[in-house]
Amino acid sequence: MAIIDSLKQQAFREIQGAEDLKKLEELQLKYLGRKGKLTEILRSLKNKPITERKKIGEVANKFKHELEELLNQKNKSLITTRSTPSSILDLTRPGAKVLRGHAHPLTQVEEDVRRIFSSMNFTVVEGPELESEYYNFDALNIRENHPARDMWDTFWLKEPSQKPKVKSEKFLLRTHTSPVQIRYMETHKPPFQIVVPGRVFRYEATDASHEINFYQLEGLMVGSDISLANFRFVIEEFFRHFFQDQKIQFRFRPSYFPFVEPGLEVDIRLKNKWLEVMGAGMVHSKVFEAVGYKNIQGFAFGVGIDRLAMIKYEVPDIRLFYSGDLRFIRQF
Ligand code: DAH
Repeated sequence: MAIIDSLKQQAFREIQGAEDLKKLEELQLKYLGRKGKLTEILRSLKNKPITERKKIGEVANKFKHELEELLNQKNKSLITTRSTPSSILDLTRPGAKVLRGHAHPLTQVEEDVRRIFSSMNFTVVEGPELESEYYNFDALNIRENHPARDMWDTFWLKEPSQKPKVKSEKFLLRTHTSPVQIRYMETHKPPFQIVVPGRVFRYEATDASHEINFYQLEGLMVGSDISLANFRFVIEEFFRHFFQDQKIQFRFRPSYFPFVEPGLEVDIRLKNKWLEVMGAGMVHSKVFEAVGYKNIQGFAFGVGIDRLAMIKYEVPDIRLFYSGDLRFIRQF
């Protein structure tokens, strides 16, 4: 049994002297591991006569338990004492940074926009992304074969293979948020002022400034004496708040959209550059006709939320918003 005795002494000495948990783990392997020293002894027993096997076996097993006990104790004391430099708890180490999630930049911009218009007493409403041809085009004075329909290259939904008896409407993914103007006017009486944030879809090739889906904000203010002067005030107020810049310059240029007359485009001057930011105009009489409004006037506008975000945060490529690349998202 001398061999076990000397092994025991050596093991106990080494375990007592272990400086850290790594060393302790090594020792556990050295003695109790599959190729460990004690395991070796136990394994060699099978070649010994039965009486000897019994005797050595008993001693070896007792040793094994003592060893386990000692390893356990040492382990506890290494965890709780901070006496050794390599202890696992080092209160002077800088903490690991906890990564917190946050809203997507486009969501943040949409929230800003909602907040600013709400503060000017606009109501925020939403409409369906799946839209009918009537709301997306016809009611907005964009007639069939009207050249302006080319401006909204469209994702059409498949028509049912069995033709229904009554002529059914064609459906599409809305190409702009303007149809919500119609939906809202059909169910509300003026005066009112609304904004409509929402996702829109265009069937087109993507590049740095075009995506097949993006976000818009529609605005509509209707009342008996609403004029372009009101539009100008509201929109200038909005941009000054949005870019937190009181000195932005504005330019209003004539433009064409079938659902407004006159139509115009708004440019803003930021950091010495003129940027096109929005389409707008006085609501066309045909549009009011479609919803049965009489003796009324109003203005409407449409702005790209992605575009606002790109300008505000100097993002060079719209596709970055949809890339899912956390290196980009985490910068906001
Ligand atoms: N719907 C237009 C577009 O998607 C934007 C727009 C222009 C909306 C003029 C308006 C408007 O309400 O008056 O390009």
